[in-house]
Parts: sequence; C-alpha cells; structure tokens
Amino acid sequence: MKIFLDTANIDDIDYYKDFIDGVTTNPSILSKYDVKNHKNTILKICRLVRSHVSVEVVSDTAEDMLKEGRELAKLHNQICVKLPCTYDGLRVCKILSEEGIATNVTLCFSATQAVLAAKCGATYISPFIGRLDDVGQDGLSLIDDICEIYRQQGFETNVLAASVRNSYHVTQAIMSGVDAITMSPKILKSCLEHNLTNVGLQLFAEDWKNRKK
Ligand code: G3P
Repeated sequence: MKIFLDTANIDDIDYYKDFIDGVTTNPSILSKYDVKNHKNTILKICRLVRSHVSVEVVSDTAEDMLKEGRELAKLHNQICVKLPCTYDGLRVCKILSEEGIATNVTLCFSATQAVLAAKCGATYISPFIGRLDDVGQDGLSLIDDICEIYRQQGFETNVLAASVRNSYHVTQAIMSGVDAITMSPKILKSCLEHNLTNVGLQLFAEDWKNRKK
C-alpha cells in the first residue's frame, strides 16, 4: 500500500520523505506555492520521492486536457496526470493510459464513476471521503464499495483514498483494502503521534534520571 502526501510544500515532503511513497497535488494546493514557477516545484518534488507525483490538468476541453496531460508527462517519468471524473476527463484518461502515461482520476464521488474510470484504464481512482461526509453522505462506505467492486470484477485500477480528514478515515480506508491513501502533512502527523507515547517517554526519562545510584 502506498502513502502519498497531499501537498506541494517542499519542506513537509522532505521532513516526511521516509514515510511516504509519492505526492498528490491539485490546483488549490499548487496555487499556494511558487505559482510563477510551479513546474520547478513539481520537479523538486519528483526528486524527493520514489513513486508517482500527481499533477492535475486545468484545461476545460478534452483536446486541451490531452495536450496539457502529454506536456505534464514529459516533465518527469514520475508524473501521474490527474484528470477530473467527467466525460472529457475519462476520454482523455483512456488515450493517455493507452500511451502508457500514468493517470489519476480525481473528484470521484460514486462507485459507478469509479467503474467507468477503471474501464478507461485509470492507474488510480481518487474517491473523496471528507467532501462526501461534508454533504451528509458516508465517504468510507464509498471506499468500501469501490474496493469490493474492483476485487469482484478484477479491475487493475488502484484505489487511492483522498480528502482524508482524520486518522479514523486512514485506518478504515486501509481496512477496506485501498491500494493507496493521500493525506495532508497535518493528518500524517496525527497518524504518527500519540499523547500516551509522549507521556510514556517523559515518565521513562524521569525514572531514569531518578534511578538509584
Ligand atoms: O487532493 C485531493 C483531496 O485529497 C483534497 O482533499 O481536504 O480538499 O477535500 P480536501
């Protein structure tokens, strides 16, 4: 199972590089960092991680998305072209996949969308857990459904849990059998730390300091 960091913050990626396989970005994330030279940021990220770095197209039409996707893929062999789960996005996904370019179909909010992305050869499907929860639906159930359908049907597309808001989402998505999960540095920090670890460490240190001499 792969862990991706959902950020374009180079310092955070460097800090957590031992725990992560790759990085996912989106236009909102990239717009926060080095906007004038975001290609440079993407290349720096590629050098820091071993696996895929997802970068999303921002074009509106299929023709432009295809051109943009091919250009992004040329930047570095770790680039995974992120495409929206729309009619045009999925058509472009099919073409890029047939050309051997890695693809990540994003903004997936239903199992049927995930099936169609798999039919178009997507490398990853990104169902959004938190944004479904935000509108009163169960994001984790969607993850479970997609994992089950992909298993039953033998689809090779990797399920990449996205829009993760807490460590409970992380654990439950992994238990459903996702192939990958992306999370912000804040969520990764919350997965790593536990108050009882800190309390225990402090106690050990105090006992050691006060040992019989
Ligand atoms: O990058 C896609 C996804 O992880 C975004 O999450 O928190 O903006 O819903 P969020």
